[in-house]
Amino acid sequence: MMESLEGKVAFVSGGGSGIGRGAALAMAAAGAHVAVADIDRDRAMAVADEASWKGTECFGMVLDVTDQAAFETARDVILRRLGRVDIVMNNVGVVAAGLPEEIPLHEWERSMSTNLLSIVRSNATFLPLLLEQGSGHVVNTASAAGMFAYEYERMPYSVSKAAVIALSEALALYLHPRHIGVTCLCPGPVVTNIRQQMTFSGAAVRMRPPVKGMTPADPMSVGEMVVDAIKHERFLVLTHPELHDLLVQRANDPEGFLAERVRIIEEG
Ligand SMILES: NC(=O)c1ccc[n+]([C@@H]2O[C@H](COP(=O)([O-])OP(=O)(O)OC[C@H]3O[C@@H](n4cnc5c(N)ncnc54)[C@H](O)[C@@H]3O)[C@@H](O)[C@H]2O)c1
Repeated sequence: MMESLEGKVAFVSGGGSGIGRGAALAMAAAGAHVAVADIDRDRAMAVADEASWKGTECFGMVLDVTDQAAFETARDVILRRLGRVDIVMNNVGVVAAGLPEEIPLHEWERSMSTNLLSIVRSNATFLPLLLEQGSGHVVNTASAAGMFAYEYERMPYSVSKAAVIALSEALALYLHPRHIGVTCLCPGPVVTNIRQQMTFSGAAVRMRPPVKGMTPADPMSVGEMVVDAIKHERFLVLTHPELHDLLVQRANDPEGFLAERVRIIEEG
């Protein structure tokens, strides 16, 4: 278990904004050196700058998580500058919205490549290092949308996030006996820039939260939850306690739970 982040080296993808930024800043505040990776160079550099104020060595790098070679370059740069990797946070997610019959295949492919296969690429790149040193922690950002269905307007997103949860659970089976922690972060709504990269296909659709009236979380507090989960080797991180209640309801009565979700959607 990583009781302290002091002197540890962290890699955060999608670290230039929102939850990734919150996590990068919280990790730096906890004493970690942080490589902030983002497809947007300016964002990555700005967050790395901010993170450096905490006194650790932080730097920004351009990385497109859909590109395997970019991961390998990122790993090499981190090893050259900081000598090791302890924490890998796979955090990029994009949203394709539209009705199930209207979202084109290429949007499904983009979502699966960015949200799910990005983690497969990261595992291929970073797991050998963590396994070799026999320590470390992997954080995968999934979503409440992957835990249960509460809408049908962002299927590529929810399906990819359900897969991220399944991947993370199986990864924990593999890595825990090898002294490597795994955390699966399942946020409810968080105030970020995620809508900037949403794509829309076909008719206009509504964006529903998992529970009506849910208060959006602040990305900085989500970042602190991530640090806490690493320190306490917690697997599942839910940003909203209501999400836990819904999982219990579904486990107790799957048919009733689904019927209730249909009713809520139909009532608008
Ligand atoms: N905001 C929410 O309500 C919410 C809820 C549940 C889960 N999440 C998940 O949290 C994660 C972070 O999202 P956020 O809300 O902070 O969004 P955000 O848009 O604020 O941050 C995401 C960052 O990822 C970067 N990015 C996009 N495509 C990339 C690529 N191909 N390679 C590298 N970087 C890329 C963007 O430039 C951006 O800086 C995502 O996985 C998202 O699905 C968000």
